[in-house]
Amino acid sequence: MTTALLLAHPNLAASRANRALLSGLDDLPGLEIVDLYAAYPDEKIDLSAERDRLLRADRLVLQFPMFWYSTPPLLKRWQDVVLTPLIYLEPNTASLLKGLPVMAATTTGGPAASYRQTGMSIEELFAPLKATARKARWEWQTPFALHDVRALDDEAMSAASQNFRSAVLSMPTRSVVARRLAPSAT
Ligand SMILES: Cc1cc2nc3c(=O)[nH]c(=O)nc-3n(C[C@H](O)[C@H](O)[C@H](O)COP(=O)(O)O)c2cc1C
Repeated sequence: MTTALLLAHPNLAASRANRALLSGLDDLPGLEIVDLYAAYPDEKIDLSAERDRLLRADRLVLQFPMFWYSTPPLLKRWQDVVLTPLIYLEPNTASLLKGLPVMAATTTGGPAASYRQTGMSIEELFAPLKATARKARWEWQTPFALHDVRALDDEAMSAASQNFRSAVLSMPTRSVVARRLAPSAT
């Protein structure tokens, strides 16, 4: 059982929150992490490698720091490069990915209250990701969000990393979703 995690952090060396979340996934069986900014410093995303990664995945996690209420640009580019041909030109491959559970996991500088002031929840802010998941016929999961990261002490950060681990472990897998989507035999 493979959990693919696409990490999009342009400066992981300086990260505290995203590194803490990743540390919560230590020893997770079948975890395959790709650090997109390290793998593609020239932003030339390898379509074939990324397509194969998706095909190996039983569930997919998109992890990134919130940048202007959205994803860092390389994750958007990953969507452009990988999903555009997959969905529009490779329907047979895309159908193999039907029901892939996908969860967005983000860290934010702003506290939860500041998001209430915007009038939009994380779920609403991620509407383009959710719509994209639906277009791909993947199964969108409730996003994971760690807010106000600068205010979190080491203990709170460690608790958050364990919560993240639980959220990933409680995602369904593609085969579970496929069984749910299959027409009933009766
Ligand atoms: C270019 C940029 C844009 C940002 N935009 C937002 C934002 O819209 N909302 C927010 O809450 N935090 C924003 N932040 C703060 C980051 O989300 C925060 O620094 C990050 O989650 C910390 O994670 P790290 O410790 O892994 O780097 C932004 C930071 C940068 C550098």
